[in-house]
Amino acid sequence: MRRTYDVVIVGSGAAGLTAALKLAPHMRVAVLSKGSMSGGSTRWAQGGIAAVLEATDSIQSHIDDTLVAGAGLCDEDAVRYVVERGKKAIQGLIDLGVEFDRLAAAPKEDGYDYHLTREGGHSHRRIIHAADATGKAVQKTLNSRVMEEPNIDVYEHHVAIDVITNRHLKHKAAYTDQAHGAYVLNMKKGRVETFSARATIIATGGASRVYLYSSNPDASTGDGIAMAWRSGCRVTNLEFNQFHPTCLFHPDAKTFLITEAMRGEGAYLRGVDGDRFMLRYDDRAELAPRDIVARAIDNEMKRTGADNVWLDITHKDADFVISHFPNIYRHCLKLGIDITADHIPVVPAAHYTCGGINVDPHARTDLDQLYAIGECAHTGLHGANRMASNSLLECLVTGDAAAEDILARQDNCPPAAIARDWDESKVTDSDEEVVVSHNWKELRRFMWDYVGIVRTDKRLARAKRRVDLLAGEIQEYYGNFRVTPDLLELRNLVTVADLIVRSAQQRKESRGLHYTADYPALLDEAGDTTLVPFSRAVSERVE
Ligand code: FAD
Ligand code: SIN
Repeated sequence: MRRTYDVVIVGSGAAGLTAALKLAPHMRVAVLSKGSMSGGSTRWAQGGIAAVLEATDSIQSHIDDTLVAGAGLCDEDAVRYVVERGKKAIQGLIDLGVEFDRLAAAPKEDGYDYHLTREGGHSHRRIIHAADATGKAVQKTLNSRVMEEPNIDVYEHHVAIDVITNRHLKHKAAYTDQAHGAYVLNMKKGRVETFSARATIIATGGASRVYLYSSNPDASTGDGIAMAWRSGCRVTNLEFNQFHPTCLFHPDAKTFLITEAMRGEGAYLRGVDGDRFMLRYDDRAELAPRDIVARAIDNEMKRTGADNVWLDITHKDADFVISHFPNIYRHCLKLGIDITADHIPVVPAAHYTCGGINVDPHARTDLDQLYAIGECAHTGLHGANRMASNSLLECLVTGDAAAEDILARQDNCPPAAIARDWDESKVTDSDEEVVVSHNWKELRRFMWDYVGIVRTDKRLARAKRRVDLLAGEIQEYYGNFRVTPDLLELRNLVTVADLIVRSAQQRKESRGLHYTADYPALLDEAGDTTLVPFSRAVSERVE
């Protein structure tokens, strides 16, 4: 089965849908999602979206805070590009119908009447939000606007396997290598379909499910990063995995975040003996950037042998707590925790992939006509540590930038080329699914144990040996058996794990989210870790 569009967008989160809506008046667009439309991280975002919205705040202050959190590795131009577009991006969401929380009292002097909260690293209240379920409000609105667009076709339960490049074409292409769409597994029909397009956008979110404990939904398996890598694109700074300090620690809560905005509104972190341990680690205490708070919690848990630490907001008025955090209140209450009276058990968990596919300010990757936006991309905004609530902002801004670039270049772009059909003539149905489930568990376990919050050379070498072994096994399995969603995710996870470990091995210092006990100091000069795929390295040498 072949389908042809102007643009194929892999991913239906904030980034993918923002791009789709901008393209729709001019082009035919396919949006793919491997689960339901709301299956990515966007739906789960809690705290909100950072932007300079009030007269008392300033662009420079948001830039400065982002640079400080990024520990010397942010690209200042990229930071400025995103931050300057914040207000317009938020207005775009309001125009689409997202209902952010308003001030309970009268508007401020400048007339601004939205409630802004605060999170770690921000020197100003600048997080616009919809209670503690901002992502749900954003995703719901984007979904319904996209469904109204006649030029957008949404394909749920369709898993993109690989980007179609010149080597997949039926006839030799006369132009340089470029993307022509994607091969896609239609999960309901159980067959691989060819989606051809003049431009392809990867918007597949992050890779935090490479770790055993994560705040992310199942979809975050780094598919787009692995796909782009296989198609010859460079990736940058993948050693910077952000661990969110406060995920609920409870046997019946699989992955549930307790928003940083709770600390922004005054919650304390307490150790086993009840002390506010963050005061011993950083002057900013609970509102220090996330890398510092997560490492402090990890250290306290190791020091005291405790399974978790505690988040305490009981000193705040109960009505205030319930009205600001209604979803967290309800969720915890179901588990027997009344957050207005009880301390909340929390632990750090893998949360955000700061590195990703190398892109320029137009979201272009190294492969012509292939774009990457949102969490899967590396724009230079986050550096060595993403500041809270800068991610959704980046999704909106980069989604817009990619669409703008595609529209500007459409007259010079050749029509979608004809790709060869997916070849299943040499594969059979799998005989041992256990290989997939076993390797999946093993991978996530050793990534947690060896490539987590605190790393060492020895641990990274151990992880690398295991990655190599699994990569060989999975590649062999992939070559012999018909693809399934689990196999495809595992193949991508092992690729991303390999890229994370190799990036971490290259960084001989501790910076931001990458902390290694063997190199605890910061190098004088900050540099990116960029990995180059073999095919590109060879062609660059030949040229
Ligand atoms: P996602 O929203 O993750 O969407 C990815 C999409 O890609 C999904 O539709 C998925 O189905 C699809 N996909 C993936 N692989 C494939 C494939 N192979 N084929 C087809 N489709 C595929 N950030 C903030 O700025 N503020 C917050 O308050 C905030 N809170 C958060 C709370 C939680 C619990 C989590 C997990 C994250 C939070 N973040 C927050 C981070 C932010 O939500 C994400 O970085 C952002 O939503 C990513 O959006 P995205 O569009 O890049 O990808
Ligand atoms: C949170 O609400 O704590 C998450 C915010 C983010 O990841 O940006």
